[in-house]
Amino acid sequence: MYFFTSRERDVFKDFLTERFGLAFEEHRHHFLDSALAGRMEDCGIDSAVVYRRRIENDNAELSRLADAVTNNLSRFFRNPGQLQAITDFVVPELYRGRDARHRAISVWVAGCATGEEPYTLAMTLADSLPESTEFHITATDISRRALEIARVATYSPSRVRALPASLRSRSGSNGDGAFRVSDELRRRVTFVEHNVLDSPLVHEADLVLCRNVLTYLAPAARQLAIRTFRESIADGGFLIIGNSETLPRRSGFNAVVTPWARVYRRPCLPSE
Ligand SMILES: C[S@@+](CC[C@H](N)C(=O)[O-])C[C@H]1O[C@@H](n2cnc3c(N)ncnc32)[C@H](O)[C@@H]1O
Repeated sequence: MYFFTSRERDVFKDFLTERFGLAFEEHRHHFLDSALAGRMEDCGIDSAVVYRRRIENDNAELSRLADAVTNNLSRFFRNPGQLQAITDFVVPELYRGRDARHRAISVWVAGCATGEEPYTLAMTLADSLPESTEFHITATDISRRALEIARVATYSPSRVRALPASLRSRSGSNGDGAFRVSDELRRRVTFVEHNVLDSPLVHEADLVLCRNVLTYLAPAARQLAIRTFRESIADGGFLIIGNSETLPRRSGFNAVVTPWARVYRRPCLPSE
């Protein structure tokens, strides 16, 4: 394995922070070193300088590096309290006093990893909303490899264990020892490669879900991502982040404590 000097590592750290906002504190140096060394080995490169030049000029390799240095761990039905806050508080709030509104509910799942989170949300919404209510989920990530897995929508039994049995049977089928999300639900989710530091992909979103992503970002990148979400969310729309994450003061969102979880809301502009 290639051994990086701290100076060489810093060059890659700065590059990854600038491109993707990713932060690598000291306790993650070993992880970063082995991910970088693995990519260099696959490319047949044994110089940090040459590899640095390579990722500057080769988007496909940059994407493979992004795959290698991100933690794509996800689970179906992660933090059920937050899901309940969505069905029992967020959705009714979105519809309160807006009977005339017929457009579909628009959701952005940022940092969706291998798809468990957007599919869980699709299952939960399909199960709790009246049949006539349309919704669409745009799910994004910087990891191409994770997005490919998400699009296939087929998971081993151990990965869907947390799904309540009744919901599982309504949301997909078992075959060849794996669970496959139904076509009906897959139709509701679109996966797109996107960096949360870039301008928003979804406009007038009713809800942005970005859980367990901000924690991997450097402080300035976190601020930028939150600004992107604020631009994306419609007046009165919602943002939900990971249970162990917090928004900085003056984020432009109001915190709402529901019986199930804390959610953040973009204030409505006063009507003229
Ligand atoms: C730990 S996973 C969280 C998955 C899911 N949100 C959940 O809570 O189960 C973090 C994901 O954030 C993605 N990510 C990290 N930085 C990102 C960025 N700048 N833009 C978009 N996605 C990013 C990673 O690729 C990874 O898939």
